[in-house]
Amino acid sequence: MIFDSKMENDIRAGAALLKAGETVAFPTETVYGLGADASNPLAIQKVFTIKGRPSDHPLIVHIADVTQLDLWAENIPRVVWRLSARFWPGPLTLILPRRREVPKEVTGGQDTVAVRIPDHPVATALLQAFGGGIVGPSANMFGRVSPTTAQHVREGLGSKVGMVLDGGPCRVGVESTILSFLDGQAVLLRPGGLSIPELEDTLGQPILVNSGEHKVRAPGMLASHYSPVTSLEVLHQDALSRRVLEMVSQGRKVAVLKLGDDGKDFEIHKTTTIFMPSSPVEYGRELYSTLHRLDRGAFDCILIESLPDEAEWMAVNDRVLRAAHVFPMVLE
Ligand code: TXA
Ligand code: MG
Repeated sequence: MIFDSKMENDIRAGAALLKAGETVAFPTETVYGLGADASNPLAIQKVFTIKGRPSDHPLIVHIADVTQLDLWAENIPRVVWRLSARFWPGPLTLILPRRREVPKEVTGGQDTVAVRIPDHPVATALLQAFGGGIVGPSANMFGRVSPTTAQHVREGLGSKVGMVLDGGPCRVGVESTILSFLDGQAVLLRPGGLSIPELEDTLGQPILVNSGEHKVRAPGMLASHYSPVTSLEVLHQDALSRRVLEMVSQGRKVAVLKLGDDGKDFEIHKTTTIFMPSSPVEYGRELYSTLHRLDRGAFDCILIESLPDEAEWMAVNDRVLRAAHVFPMVLE
């Protein structure tokens, strides 16, 4: 990838800041990450402080290429090589047994480590210039909507971050899919940018969804994650109009996210209708930026039309329900 000279300079400056133990926000194909040197406990502490994130929530280590995987993980299950060959770089995070040297600040004290190779030219260039692993939680305050543009990062974290690398809007728009392995069995910890059917195809085995029965701890997965500041409800199409009328009659300013464009907006005073794409990939790409925009719009409430229950919609459904504080999967 050829960058203009400003971006080249920015990436060089970003790598130098990381080496000096500072934080650098960087674009990935999923969302923007808040980067720090994954081998430097003091730098990692800064990430937790900036985000206001509890320190027992483990972080993902981003690496430039698969040859670095065994610097972080060991006893890597054989299926992992098949998955990594097919999906890395890409929106897939793998939970693996950690190497002893991995700082406990990264793993939250667990004996596993989360690793992924992001698929974004700026992330790749930063990782290469830096040379090591970079922790990268989403670059937002704890519990808030993840950023999909550099502007979202600046609005959310302001001057607390050492530097924000601007790589444009994120292509995927929801976080990576997280897979763990229990005795060789793949378990889904977080639905994300890659769908289950895609992964199962390569794995050649079904993926267990993390539920009460096969429960794996993913300490970062709380129902309150990914919430906008504005209150938010998810409603079935049939209930939507009634709720809009109810809200408006109470004098509230409402935004409605409808699925697909049937051309019928709610022509009601104080109500804004947003037609969201009817494909899950495009819906996912636009969801967070729409929520960020509505947060700036002084709405009293966001009403979201409920989404189809199919596998392709799993990640978007998960984020929408979390934003509304509904438990989509049994966790914790
Ligand atoms: O798409 C993404 O994954 C983005 C971009 C920036 O790469 N990153 C991201 O990081 O979403 P974060 O910190 O917001 O979410 C990481 C999730 C947390 O829910 C955490 O619990 C889980 O990964 N996690 C990390 N290490 C783990 C481990 N060892 N075992 C179980 N879950 C782990
Ligand atoms: Mg996050």
